[in-house]
Amino acid sequence: MIDANERMSVDVLLTGANGRLGEAVAREFAHTAPTLRVAALGRSLLDAAEQEAVHEAFSRLAPRVVVNAAAFTDVAAAQAAARNSAALDVVMRANARAPEVLAQACAAHGASLIHFSTDYVFSGGGSRMRTEVEKPRPFGVYGRSKRAGEAALEHVGRQNPTFRYLIFRLSWLHGAPGDFVSKVLDAALAGRLSRMRNDQWGRPTSYESAAKLAVQTTQRELMNEGAQNSLHVTIPRGIYHFAEPGPVVNRLRLAKLILGMGAVKLAERGCLFESEMLRRAGESLQGCRMHDRARPANCRLNCGKLSGLMAIDCFSWNYYVDKSVENFLQSRLLGMEEASDTCLDKEN
Ligand SMILES: NC(=O)c1ccc[n+]([C@@H]2O[C@H](COP(=O)([O-])OP(=O)(O)OC[C@H]3O[C@@H](n4cnc5c(N)ncnc54)[C@H](OP(=O)(O)O)[C@@H]3O)[C@@H](O)[C@H]2O)c1
Repeated sequence: MIDANERMSVDVLLTGANGRLGEAVAREFAHTAPTLRVAALGRSLLDAAEQEAVHEAFSRLAPRVVVNAAAFTDVAAAQAAARNSAALDVVMRANARAPEVLAQACAAHGASLIHFSTDYVFSGGGSRMRTEVEKPRPFGVYGRSKRAGEAALEHVGRQNPTFRYLIFRLSWLHGAPGDFVSKVLDAALAGRLSRMRNDQWGRPTSYESAAKLAVQTTQRELMNEGAQNSLHVTIPRGIYHFAEPGPVVNRLRLAKLILGMGAVKLAERGCLFESEMLRRAGESLQGCRMHDRARPANCRLNCGKLSGLMAIDCFSWNYYVDKSVENFLQSRLLGMEEASDTCLDKEN
């Protein structure tokens, strides 16, 4: 990683570097591609929606690939912003204006842009797997703002045939504080988990795998640069769906799986009281339909287009959910130990 104020050319500019995905991507670069020069800039160092600031960053750093992890992701706040033009502007700056500014800068400087989007660009139920050719029908303000960001890249791409951009639509990300895994376990341990949607289907995906996707595709962009007959298959620019392998699942089943994993792990540690709480919460958890209308129901992403072109180095989603459960319990147990209220005390 390079210093934010340094004047030197870098391989990669990572924007939104202090967000959950941004941090995972920075970690993955440091871990698997330590020789690449990466400028990882959070919003305080680079506001990606500010044309002048982005222009200055390009002049100073001359990145060859930009990975944009910047976004406004608070779905409820985005929806509430529908009635407030100043608040709506904040959402649109992050999700539509920033990708547009970055796309223009990349097109002008010959850099590739890797950008992330979401299953919220679709709405409605049904059970079909969503492909990239399906016409988007964005869900709510957040979905519309993210679709506007995609459209901005496509527009710049039409004007600049050599501009390379990859948009990865992700869904149900977990593996950071406040994610679905933590919410389910927190609620169950507090005795307030009774219902979960059974009509919302998709596949959870970890920040870790999404970060691997960003790093692997960045490496390809760098390897393919200028090569006429590259051994590496160049991924055509455009939109791709990405989820970890594994069957689609609904939120109710996923929550039950999380609770079951948590119960086993706690029992193995001798935390029998908490383990029993999770086991019972899983058993009594009831399904409900459209309880939370703020989320799309059919989040089944067909990922065949991307997997036909490259294999992302990741396991099936079950593995990462287990890891998120483990991480949550470790931080929880550590917190409980610090408060001298450990489950071991209970057992004693
Ligand atoms: N979270 C999910 O479940 C999920 C699912 C599907 C797709 N995605 C997509 O994955 C990507 C990453 O999401 P995430 O979960 O990592 O979000 P996140 O944790 O909310 O991080 C977003 C980061 O972007 C920063 N940011 C906002 N506006 C910016 C600007 N104008 N310039 C520079 N940085 C800016 C934010 O900074 P501040 O905190 O200072 O505002 C924050 O650090 C997004 O494109 C999102 O749409 C997420």
